[in-house]
Amino acid sequence: MAALPTISFAQSALPERGAAVLFVDADNGFGPLGRQMLEASGGALARALSAAAFKGKVNSVLDVVAPAGLAVDRVLVVGLGALDAFDAAAALKLGGTLMGKIKESRAAEVTLVLERPDGEAFDPALAAEIALGLRLRAYEWDKHKTKKKDDPPPAAAITLAIDDADRAGGLWAAAAEVAAGVELARDLVNEAPNILGPVEFADHAKALEAHGLEVEILVDEDMRELGMGALLGVAQGSARPARLAIMTWNGGKSNDQPLVFVGKGVVFDTGGISIKPAAGMEDMKGDMGGAAAVIGLMRALAGRKAAVNAIGILGLVENMPDGNAQRPGDIVTSMSGQTIEIINTDAEGRLVLADALWYAQDRFKPAFMIDLATLTGACMVALGTQHAGLFSNDDALAEKLYGAGQATGEKIWRLPLGPDYDKQIDSRFADMKNTGGRYGGAITAAQFLKRFVNETPWAHLDVAGTAMAAADSEINRSWGSGFGVRLLDRLVRDNYES
Ligand code: BES
Ligand code: MN
Ligand code: ZN
Repeated sequence: MAALPTISFAQSALPERGAAVLFVDADNGFGPLGRQMLEASGGALARALSAAAFKGKVNSVLDVVAPAGLAVDRVLVVGLGALDAFDAAAALKLGGTLMGKIKESRAAEVTLVLERPDGEAFDPALAAEIALGLRLRAYEWDKHKTKKKDDPPPAAAITLAIDDADRAGGLWAAAAEVAAGVELARDLVNEAPNILGPVEFADHAKALEAHGLEVEILVDEDMRELGMGALLGVAQGSARPARLAIMTWNGGKSNDQPLVFVGKGVVFDTGGISIKPAAGMEDMKGDMGGAAAVIGLMRALAGRKAAVNAIGILGLVENMPDGNAQRPGDIVTSMSGQTIEIINTDAEGRLVLADALWYAQDRFKPAFMIDLATLTGACMVALGTQHAGLFSNDDALAEKLYGAGQATGEKIWRLPLGPDYDKQIDSRFADMKNTGGRYGGAITAAQFLKRFVNETPWAHLDVAGTAMAAADSEINRSWGSGFGVRLLDRLVRDNYES
């Protein structure tokens, strides 16, 4: 919400105004322009480095104000660490850390001198990652603060000076679209639940038509006709009606099977009749983090005109206790025809996804389906906030996802599926029940979803621990993370665009 920095690329040159950012390796080695500035400072910079015992460790920053002999107001010296370990994930983090320092320093005009101490050309792809880190860290959610900070830092004008500025600038143009997708996802996760209901969320999806997506919104009657009894059963306790949003991006060849992404969009999860305890319940405004990632991804793919056919589906409901709410013991019939005994109304996400997944494979015959859902507390217990849980019926898809996680720093960890876990959700009264008992809760939730994917290659990402309230990171200080947008954009980019 705070003003974003403007980020541009320019041919390498010595900065003459504002703040200069110079990069050093693990031996405090500077590149050619950095060495020129070091000399021009007549020893001032070198002295500052040694006085601060600066070692060029990756992500370390030294802020030298008003250095003698230089026209610039300050020099930020940034460590790259060992150059061969400085990869895309490291570049992204470094951009984030640097943005933190730029905000602190209140610099309005900043020039990054991107050069390698060993004299080789600075990789334009790493430059674009640094830019992405700068932009993502700049994000702030202060929409509902009526008293703005007295003296907010200026929105910096940041120039990245690099040899191949054209190539870096082109990569950044695409990355900036991904950033816009992450920001959209964060905005939605951070938004208050009275303001963002299923209808309002669907409006956000519809608004993406301005970016070239086709968007279709199914309302209650449509879903009733389709037989979506599982999704509608969750919504029936809420005064706010459910929606299913279908967003289509046709950037590939007309006969290419689409890639389908499905998001859990529970705008607020009270637990329903199986109501949650009061402490921390406000966090359940973020129970639409999966849907937020999917809408953000679709925004990113359309924005950068990805050469792929992709469909995003959002299951949008509110889970409330009410005279009309569903009960433990109720039996609902899903669109697939399979019946479900409700044991716990707080295991609602899987009910929403059951119909959304069945609908997705039935209508679109996808190349694969990936769902994202803040599905289980059990997954957070297992993996904490640093990895999302990955479940899949397709090893090749799981491998690709894992690789995308490593490349983006949105890390995922695979957990098992199997027939013995599946037995845990057999029901005495219906085809299945919606909880699987005390143990393996993230797995039995995934087994449940698997019963609605048919033969389609499928992966499920349990993002309960990563979509919101994760620890502060280099690239995010707001509550909602936008987790999944960069991961899936990378999956698409690296594997499905020719
Ligand atoms: N939305 C929750 C899961 C969740 C918990 C997400 C904490 C993020 C943070 C989900 O709908 C839920 O309530 N799951 C239950 C399932 C249980 C009733 C089988 C859970 O994890 O306790
Ligand atoms: Mn729940
Ligand atoms: Zn939930």
